[in-house]
Amino acid sequence: MAQGRRKLIAGNWKMNGLHQDGLDLARELSHRSVAAHRASGQHLPCDLLICPPATLLITLAEALTGAAILLGGQDCHAEVKGAHTGDLSAEMLRDAGCSHVIVGHSERRIDHGENDAIVHGKAAAAMRAGLVAVVCVGESEAERNAGRALDVVAGQLAGSIPDGMGAGTLVVAYEPVWAIGTGKTPTVADVAEMHAHIRNRLDGQVAAAEQLRILYGGSVKPSNAVELLAVDNVDGALVGGASLAASDFWDIARACR
Ligand code: 13P
Repeated sequence: MAQGRRKLIAGNWKMNGLHQDGLDLARELSHRSVAAHRASGQHLPCDLLICPPATLLITLAEALTGAAILLGGQDCHAEVKGAHTGDLSAEMLRDAGCSHVIVGHSERRIDHGENDAIVHGKAAAAMRAGLVAVVCVGESEAERNAGRALDVVAGQLAGSIPDGMGAGTLVVAYEPVWAIGTGKTPTVADVAEMHAHIRNRLDGQVAAAEQLRILYGGSVKPSNAVELLAVDNVDGALVGGASLAASDFWDIARACR
């Protein structure tokens, strides 16, 4: 692990989880977390974050009381309040018990036409509300095949991250679009190249870039977690499908060194 950077394993449940299923999953993680902290020598070597659907946030905030598991939203609006039907502000997420919010996930960039300027506004809103913004970046398969992955991600970083952010307000998640939900992952060399590139690009743009956590996301599972989490500048994972099974999410967390 790089000096001073504790890993973060984040679960993005996406649009999954009715009330009882979500509660069961959170309780199972909570039990494991509490038991691990009680048993000597079994402290997890990472922070845990779950980002359930907004309908579950308040229930899960209560269910996770006393457990060392952080709660996050999956998106927020840039404004504090107002006539924005269907949206949630960063302040509302904070009020519901969140410490983090994902912004700029490729599914929102693609499904909802969110560009860098919109993501920039959402990241600024997170900072305003006292939330850590998990800003997602990543290239498409066509962009990688065209040799443009590094440039695409550099552009997303420059356009999506407001001035004044640092390790206390920002986490960056590199999620190649073609690796999400496909079972495909980049090579270890490609992940190392991209994560070093992200840190270099952010040096000067954010305060103390060497302290910033840069997560990898895209088809992370227990069987590849040890390898991916050992890559230089990979400071954790943003996990989709495998975060929906407590045992898989837990095994990914235990793969942190
Ligand atoms: P998968 O882990 O299902 O590939 O999803 C990754 C992701 O999009 C997390 O935000």
